[in-house]
Amino acid sequence: MRLAERQRRLDQTLLQFRALWHPQPFRELRPAWAEQDHGLAEEVLALSDEATIHLNYDTGAALELLAKYRPEIGEIASLAAVPRSQSQPLPGLDAFWDWEIPGRKRAQIEAFAAAAERQGQPVLDWCGGKGHLGRLLALAWKVPVHSLDFDATLCEEGEALARRAGIKHCFVHADALQVEAWPQAGQHAVALHACGELHRRLIRRGAQRGVPGLDVAPCCYYRGVDEYYEPMSGPLQLQLSRDDTRLAVTETVTAKPREARLRDQALAWKLGFDAYRRQVTGLGYRTFKPVPDRWLRASFGEFMRHMVEREGLPAFPGASSAEFERAGWQRQREVMRYSIVRHAFRRALETWLVLDAAVYLEKSGYSVTLSRFCERRLTPRNLLISARLA
Ligand SMILES: C[S@@+](CC[C@H](N)C(=O)[O-])C[C@H]1O[C@@H](n2cnc3c(N)ncnc32)[C@H](O)[C@@H]1O
Repeated sequence: MRLAERQRRLDQTLLQFRALWHPQPFRELRPAWAEQDHGLAEEVLALSDEATIHLNYDTGAALELLAKYRPEIGEIASLAAVPRSQSQPLPGLDAFWDWEIPGRKRAQIEAFAAAAERQGQPVLDWCGGKGHLGRLLALAWKVPVHSLDFDATLCEEGEALARRAGIKHCFVHADALQVEAWPQAGQHAVALHACGELHRRLIRRGAQRGVPGLDVAPCCYYRGVDEYYEPMSGPLQLQLSRDDTRLAVTETVTAKPREARLRDQALAWKLGFDAYRRQVTGLGYRTFKPVPDRWLRASFGEFMRHMVEREGLPAFPGASSAEFERAGWQRQREVMRYSIVRHAFRRALETWLVLDAAVYLEKSGYSVTLSRFCERRLTPRNLLISARLA
């Protein structure tokens, strides 16, 4: 299916099921969809802890569960599916290249470089940090490389690594959101995990300058979005709020048991606080500032005393501790289960965002492919947009 056609259908289908993924269970006692989809709500609420953890992680399995109640949802999985990249083996590299790179980062960079096809033009590594990707491409593709980043220390450290490797690899210390001179016409622009507006600016500027090739693995789509995401490819039916774009990158990472317990407790206590605030104010959910970790390491009663003081609420009666802590844990259990429904759409939303950039590039005259450049365990942000000037 052509990218634009897939975008149109995904846009339509996501809009059709917005009521399932847009509401945030943390903010609502019972999401509105649960009033219509009784069967689905009952099934998720009855799940074991183990199944809840699994379904919050495994988008495909969650979509299958939803499709039992809404068969049209089945189409979402195929619209959001992206094939694995046709990777080229990298030439044998000497020991210079991987100095100082943590293992997983190194594997991501190698997978990206193997998936992005060499064009023979000089490379611009956008928001390249210390330029590990740029250095690998200079060695593997034997082309001059510029890495651009706004962190002066990373640029200096990257320059030292390039000197050691004896390659043509220069650094541009600049703000990617302001810089006018880069990318330059004739450059093959690459970006691995340039957050939000940083990758969108490269795509726009690259297309305006007519760079011959772009390989972009986006991340943190919400960065640089004010209230609503502004599509690049033209008007679409779906309007994503900043929180919706954040949902695209919400991952339930498989944590060690102790970390998982602390994460669950943090959620339960915040929901216990929410229950108290609802009771004393009579109002619905209100956002609050991040909670310092040390408050979450004290007792629930102490946590509540800190919170009510900061949020300007009446003093928390110590005698109510057990009642509100229990209410928090009860809601934590429900929130985790209702979240399965919302999380099922994560990858589809991410694909919608990536398709927006891909279709924009197609409309700008590029031939574009989407692929997965590595397995999710290396990084869940594993989608690659490859564009070549047609
Ligand atoms: C997630 S890191 C990715 C680094 C590198 N591409 C990699 O994958 O190892 C994002 C990089 O963007 C840089 N960055 C953030 N905002 C920037 C800006 N406005 N201009 C240039 N670089 C920026 C950061 O310093 C950081 O090195």
